Amino acid sequence: MSFNIAIDGPAGAGKSTIAKQLAKELGFVYVDTGAMYRAFAYYFLTNNISAADEAAIAAACPNVTISLTYEDGVQNVWLNGENVSGFIRNEEVGNMASATSVYPVVRTKLVELQQELAKTTDVIMDGRDIGTVVLPNADVKIYMTASSTVRAKRRFDELVAKGVECDLDEIEKDIIERDYRDMNRETSPLKKADDAYELDTSELDIDGVVNAMKEIIEKVR
Ligand code: DC
Repeated sequence: MSFNIAIDGPAGAGKSTIAKQLAKELGFVYVDTGAMYRAFAYYFLTNNISAADEAAIAAACPNVTISLTYEDGVQNVWLNGENVSGFIRNEEVGNMASATSVYPVVRTKLVELQQELAKTTDVIMDGRDIGTVVLPNADVKIYMTASSTVRAKRRFDELVAKGVECDLDEIEKDIIERDYRDMNRETSPLKKADDAYELDTSELDIDGVVNAMKEIIEKVR
């Protein structure tokens, strides 16, 4: 039986940074489900399909195949045979992923793939609906949060470090909009599973969060 850790929370709460580090320390595979929704979004963007055009999205879905591979623990996302990992980490794709992940036709395909992975592998999987929909029987569920101000500052620092010009207020506005959409959509909205531990990371640094998570995991392992 595989051991599954589900991490959910809003954009910028620190899920992927923490999950990556924990996966390394525990010898688990880190599954970044946001990257799958981003790859899908990248397909829609590059094929000029609007997020509002549900019929076009539904018609395009059968043409999209997404898969994951791992190289030294690093996840690569493949879209119709092309490694798109380098193209999906920007705000345009992130916002498109948030806007197109509302459609059940998009979600069904990806949820199946995620569940398949977790069946056979010890995973730390992060996203929005992992503890509630994808892995309702996960061994450990953690819901990570942080204030929108802290999350905006983290994203701002990340972008600045990459040399991207950006505006802190714009980023916070985007984050608040994205939270609203992710939490209020009809299908699999972002919410804390009843049996998830809630961890507010606003006042913690990376090691602080990793240690808090390890304590939670050790309790059930
Ligand atoms: O975690 P992220 O920023 O890479 O995710 C991008 C978008 O994808 C997010 O705003 C909502 C969507 N998403 C989702 O609906 N369900 C998931 N399990 C992961 C991401």
